[in-house]
Amino acid sequence: MRKPLIAGNWKMNGSLELLETMKQALTSAQVSSSVEVAIIPPFTLLMSAGRTLSDSAIRLGAQTLHPEPSGAFTGEVSASMLTECGVSHVLAGHSERRTLFGEDDQAVLARVTAALDAGMTPILCVGETLEEREADRVETVVLGQVKTVIDALSASQRSRLVIAYEPVWAIGTGRTATPEQAQQVHAMIRSWLSDKDPALGEGMRLLYGGSMKADNAAELLSQPDIDGGLIGGASLKPDDFIAICHAAG
Ligand code: G3H
Repeated sequence: MRKPLIAGNWKMNGSLELLETMKQALTSAQVSSSVEVAIIPPFTLLMSAGRTLSDSAIRLGAQTLHPEPSGAFTGEVSASMLTECGVSHVLAGHSERRTLFGEDDQAVLARVTAALDAGMTPILCVGETLEEREADRVETVVLGQVKTVIDALSASQRSRLVIAYEPVWAIGTGRTATPEQAQQVHAMIRSWLSDKDPALGEGMRLLYGGSMKADNAAELLSQPDIDGGLIGGASLKPDDFIAICHAAG
């Protein structure tokens, strides 16, 4: 049985005020304990968030990390710095990191490995652009991104990973993949994982991301191979985020 995960990626948004409001709203909403909830604020809020959330079941995530443990990497943050803040989850390979900051599959793998070594749960983000979808390259692109990471990890490392399928054309556009489109890709990823190792396929949590909102979450989350969501815009609105959390439980 895979525990659903609803993770709110705040991207370069949010404030101390939103952190407090979100924590209070989530606490009083009494989201089912069968759902794991995480918020992923920007770096500047992580230390405060770690303290604010320490008495709750809400997990704390980071949006990226640098693969090296320390050194002359101006502007970067290492895995141990994140764990010191109470971070348990970290995104790797979000499409905005891949396209805006030039992270290729090897850079993503290095970040996944650093997160695993530090005891965190990496959320590996994969997904195709519209151009790639229209060129019938969804399988090649998505499975290529998954394969680079999975093939480099040991069996025990793989079992600690979460994968988020985020079609790039659905991110922040209001254009959601239909439940059928999303399910099709999730099933494809799971089938590839199962061919490698049946227990891996059965156990891997596959999240959907891309304009998931309060009014479309239930249908997406009811698909058999969708185990949660990576939420951007709607995670900044407590009522919407809570509605999505409820839809998962
Ligand atoms: O990390 C979250 C995704 O990029 C989805 O963002 O819900 O604003 O489309 P969005």
